[in-house]
Amino acid sequence: MRVIKVKDYERLSKLAAKIVATLIREKPDAVLGLATGNTPLGLYRELIRMHKEEGLDFSRVVTFNLDEYIGLPKNHPQSYHHFMWENFFHHVNINPSNVHIPDGNAPNIRQHCDWYEARIRKFGGIDLQILGIGRDGHIGFNEPGSSLGSRTRIKTLLEVTRRDNARFFDGKIENVPKYAITMGIGTILDAKAILLLASGESKADAIKKAVEGPITAMVPASVLQLHRDTTVIVDEAAAKYLELPWETEEDYERVESLFG
Ligand code: F6R
Repeated sequence: MRVIKVKDYERLSKLAAKIVATLIREKPDAVLGLATGNTPLGLYRELIRMHKEEGLDFSRVVTFNLDEYIGLPKNHPQSYHHFMWENFFHHVNINPSNVHIPDGNAPNIRQHCDWYEARIRKFGGIDLQILGIGRDGHIGFNEPGSSLGSRTRIKTLLEVTRRDNARFFDGKIENVPKYAITMGIGTILDAKAILLLASGESKADAIKKAVEGPITAMVPASVLQLHRDTTVIVDEAAAKYLELPWETEEDYERVESLFG
């Protein structure tokens, strides 16, 4: 696992965008795994800027999102479809038929989950999976206790997660969907490379456990320690409890310029 400590959210977003852009320039038909939430917003903004100002070309890029609520209409302001199109896809030249987000309104959700896995395989697997991390160490909707070998499937959301998210649903927990589709931890581990982003003090405990703690289903992100090519970018606040020195951004740039 490679852990890079950067000063703040802006540096985190810029470095993450540089890593994604380098991949797309080397492999124009790269397959990206994408996340929603606050953390990747700066990354998406920077990629949009690179597209507009530097001609970064998404026309052959293929994307697979991690997760989606079950039962929300696609155009609902809280659906992950809506989030991705508003915050990213509408602003770059991606081919809509290359965009994949689990369909929370599929007539047969279990079949759809199997189709999603098959579709990822059809495109040769995910080249780079972007992840955020929950305060409890979750990745995707894989909450603590999720099987470390799990695949794309239906998850029942924890009461605490629904309560946390009620603020986005008129403050009413009964409006928050009870179920979601999520790529499994096994699906995530199959990605050729993984980029986990964490910003802010509220993530410091989860990062400490995920990066320097034991591998356990109680902290789903800790399983990334088993992956051969995972990079974690954390800002100073999220790195607060890390004990090892890890890498600074300058260390990272030096290694990249020496070894490419
Ligand atoms: C989103 C996702 C979630 C988030 C996590 C962190 O697609 O899969 O696991 O990455 O909940 O969310 P933020 O970035 O909002 O702190």
